[in-house]
Amino acid sequence: MARRRMVYEGKAKILYEGPEPGTYIQYFKDDATAFNAEKRDVIEGKGVLNNRISEHIMSALNGIGVPTHFIRRLNMREQLIRQVEIIPLEVVVRNVAAGSISKRLGIEEGEPLPRPIIEFYYKDDALGDPMVSEEHIVAFNWANQQDIDDIIALALRVNDFLTGLFLGVGIKLVDFKIETGRIWDGDFQRIIVADEISPDSCRLWDIETGRKLDKDVFRRDLGSLTDAYSEVAKRLGILPQNATKPRSGPKLVH
Ligand code: TMP
Repeated sequence: MARRRMVYEGKAKILYEGPEPGTYIQYFKDDATAFNAEKRDVIEGKGVLNNRISEHIMSALNGIGVPTHFIRRLNMREQLIRQVEIIPLEVVVRNVAAGSISKRLGIEEGEPLPRPIIEFYYKDDALGDPMVSEEHIVAFNWANQQDIDDIIALALRVNDFLTGLFLGVGIKLVDFKIETGRIWDGDFQRIIVADEISPDSCRLWDIETGRKLDKDVFRRDLGSLTDAYSEVAKRLGILPQNATKPRSGPKLVH
């Protein structure tokens, strides 16, 4: 049997050639990395949770007319996606100060920001994904000004949607990262959401307790990452409430 062709392997996912032209299969690994892969571990079950959570979010975005690369989930770890030409930027949207903005600007973690703030980072592991400005993006031709305007509009729509989605289940969306890609409809280019949206790429805090339900649990050694991600999945209604409890065995019927 012919083996499918691997197209790309990243830190947390693998892309394979898809069943039809213009598609890929995106496989979610259990690998967790932080600080540009200085810290790494394999966390059993993380890939399965992120596949489900990202499916849930991406299909909801598709449903409200925010275009994404997601087509459908195939199995526990894989989803069918549209091939896009990835724009080499990590687009971060922040609602509340945390992480690198707190360090860089001396703003206490948890301080609400006056408005959503968008930042761009150039996707290059060797350089440690440096922050860049619109000037860099246009000058080095990673995207033109129209693309940047489209990316900002897309990121803000995702922010509005995700903020409401998580608020409804008692979670504060502190910040998140998306990646975007180009697709072509004949001569027309569209920019759509790509990659994944999961607790790996968001900061999610329980509204009541402040408990962290995202990858900071791994970055900062705060406990079980899969417990945190399962909690997010449960609240979103995509895991049964008792999914992590051991099942009882078969019962004898008299
Ligand atoms: P930061 O505070 O470390 O800059 O992260 C901002 C948001 O972006 C946070 O939700 C985590 C996410 N993020 C990624 O998804 N990938 C990355 O490589 C980094 C550095 C952050």
